[in-house]
Amino acid sequence: MIRKPRGTMDIMPEEIPEWRFVEETARRVASKFGFGEIRTPGFEATELFQRGVGETTDVVQKEMYTFEDREGRSFTLRPEGTASVARAVIENGRCSDAMPLKLCYLINCFRYEKPQAGRSREFFQFGVEMFGAADPSADAETVAMAHTLISELGIKNVSLHLNSIGCPQCRPAYRAALKAYFNEHIDGLCETCRARLDTNPMRILDCKSPECQAIAEGAPKTLDHLCPDCRDHFDKLGGYLKAQGIDYIVDPHIVRGLDYYTRTVFEFIADGIGAQSTVCGGGRYDGLMKELGGPEMPGIGFAAGITRLLLAMRESGVKVPAPAAPALYIAPMGDAAKVKAAALTAALRSRGLTVDRDLVGRSLKAQMKYADKTGARSVLIIGDSELENGKANLRSMADSSQSEVDINDVDALAEKLK
Ligand code: HAM
Repeated sequence: MIRKPRGTMDIMPEEIPEWRFVEETARRVASKFGFGEIRTPGFEATELFQRGVGETTDVVQKEMYTFEDREGRSFTLRPEGTASVARAVIENGRCSDAMPLKLCYLINCFRYEKPQAGRSREFFQFGVEMFGAADPSADAETVAMAHTLISELGIKNVSLHLNSIGCPQCRPAYRAALKAYFNEHIDGLCETCRARLDTNPMRILDCKSPECQAIAEGAPKTLDHLCPDCRDHFDKLGGYLKAQGIDYIVDPHIVRGLDYYTRTVFEFIADGIGAQSTVCGGGRYDGLMKELGGPEMPGIGFAAGITRLLLAMRESGVKVPAPAAPALYIAPMGDAAKVKAAALTAALRSRGLTVDRDLVGRSLKAQMKYADKTGARSVLIIGDSELENGKANLRSMADSSQSEVDINDVDALAEKLK
């Protein structure tokens, strides 16, 4: 028996309605906000993520699915979408389009992580990226879009955590202050954080180990080290969010795990869905386009994990509408009836109806059982006598009531079934 790889999932037909609900809601919200959809390759040159996501991140250091192709080139299954979308914008010459350029995507991503509830090795994201808008109103618009998505999905148990991690002007001094602080407490840090101290001290702020968290409580805060421009940007963003009626918590521990972020970072965190509680994360990345060989161009975006959205929806008691049941199941008895059933099925489907019929030659009793299982609203039994008379009984599955129909008058039958 060959099994699926650890950390991947089979999404079975009965689960698909809620996935579609999330995907359709995401696409509707995106188009409301004026975002077009983009699709990029599932794998990219490894260097794209090394440069884009950053060499010191967990994603690049430990989590990438990297392989050599037959010609010895190094490729990586995408661990996220932002670097790919930025590359596609540059490569397709869209940097001179009217700005802002607003793009969204629904993708699968791959990270070699320890699987648990809400964390898998292949996972699915809805993400958005906005290029060419440096103004804090663009940050507010992006946050508002995530907020709208979450509320249109019916998720209630979330809060928005907001922070600014500064820019290349103010971050070096902040990093130095942070390093000095953590160096004083080095003995209390976990092994991973000791290693992070030199490469990426900001990540210690979001370490989940209780010992590190206790030390991080007293650490210098980014917000106290922002340069005047970053401070002004953060304050204006707060003003926009207030004006838009979006509540938030200023949270100095939100630093995000990817290197490209500058200034605004945010996460929507859900209660009651376990340790992997960030349903959506994002922020500004004003240096990414340049890093990837493009022009100096600001950007901001977010991505939400579909499985985590689904967990939060369930926690909020959201019921996704069931897909429409088939209007009709045709139960033919005998070879000639099977041919008539095939013709009727095609004719009714071409009139927009969902119709099913027996394809395995079951007994009438077994057919009725199957029809019931499919949720068909009505059943039409066709045997030799029905073929001869051109009339058959249409049986309602809800109340077993019957009515005679002309099986040669497809339009009338279609009308009756609608
Ligand atoms: P991220 O925080 O790495 O950011 O991922 C975004 C979201 O994807 C997370 O909040 C979570 O819901 C989901 N996610 C991440 N890893 C997993 C996993 N292993 N299993 C299940 N769900 C997961 C990014 O990916 C950035 N590209 C977001 C962004 C877009 N920033 C700016 N633009």
